[in-house]
Amino acid sequence: AGGPWEECFEAAVQLALRAGQIIRKALSEEKRVSTKTSAVDLVTETDQAVEALILSELQERFPSHRFIAEEAAAAGAKCVLTPSPTWIVDPIDGTCNFVHRFPTVAVSIGFAVNQELEFGVIYHCTEERLYTGQRGRGAFCNGQQLQFRETDLSKALVLTEIGPRRDPATLKLFLSNMERLLRTGAHGVRVIGSSTLALCHLASGAADAYYQFGLHCWDLAAATVIIREAGGIVMDTSGGPLDLMACRVVAAGTREMATLVAQALQTINYGRDDER
Ligand code: IPD
Repeated sequence: AGGPWEECFEAAVQLALRAGQIIRKALSEEKRVSTKTSAVDLVTETDQAVEALILSELQERFPSHRFIAEEAAAAGAKCVLTPSPTWIVDPIDGTCNFVHRFPTVAVSIGFAVNQELEFGVIYHCTEERLYTGQRGRGAFCNGQQLQFRETDLSKALVLTEIGPRRDPATLKLFLSNMERLLRTGAHGVRVIGSSTLALCHLASGAADAYYQFGLHCWDLAAATVIIREAGGIVMDTSGGPLDLMACRVVAAGTREMATLVAQALQTINYGRDDER
């Protein structure tokens, strides 16, 4: 039998699949691209249309719930996580990939109650893979249960994302962090252009650790539930507990590996989502 938020979870799955269909179709079409916080922070009409679709349907079905969503935040809405049931939505994660037709693009819908993440739904639009996690009930990809693969950092495949800033100081820190990770003996570092799908790769055992500075709560909310339910750890780069609004994260199969990754990193300060 379903838990108390089963109806919400089902709604998230249906909307992610519908949004995915729209994104898949739009991927090969011409796009009008605008920029947000930097010249490489992109948005298209499809991001906005898909977010409007998801939010309007959810608002109609769950009028008392609250919403945090990427394009609403870009338009000035505050990102505040209260105890109320809250949907945390990224209509297209991997917008830069989407613009370039690089087929690594996802819809991400997370849901929190009492500031605790209850479920996450991430849809890989081009590969048609639906990742889900519900607190206490496991993580799945197209119905198959996900389980972390445990390994040492010295044998790990590590994923990261660049983040939106390109000023020389940030780039220097970003590259130096990558060098520090490679010096641990990790087998490799990959950048695929989507934080949420990178985290889903960890949960499916296709990669072993993830770190990033400069991502947002909507990149993290759904994926965090999926990682935890697959047996993994999501934490702050300080080594402390995850802070959804802190724009930074480390994830791995074990606390030991996550801690080693965190210790290798120098902080890149991107501020907080709830202080913009
Ligand atoms: C971004 C992507 C990118 C990561 C950024 C995210 P968006 O999400 O996941 O790879 O580096 O931090 O914000 O803007 O495409 O939804």
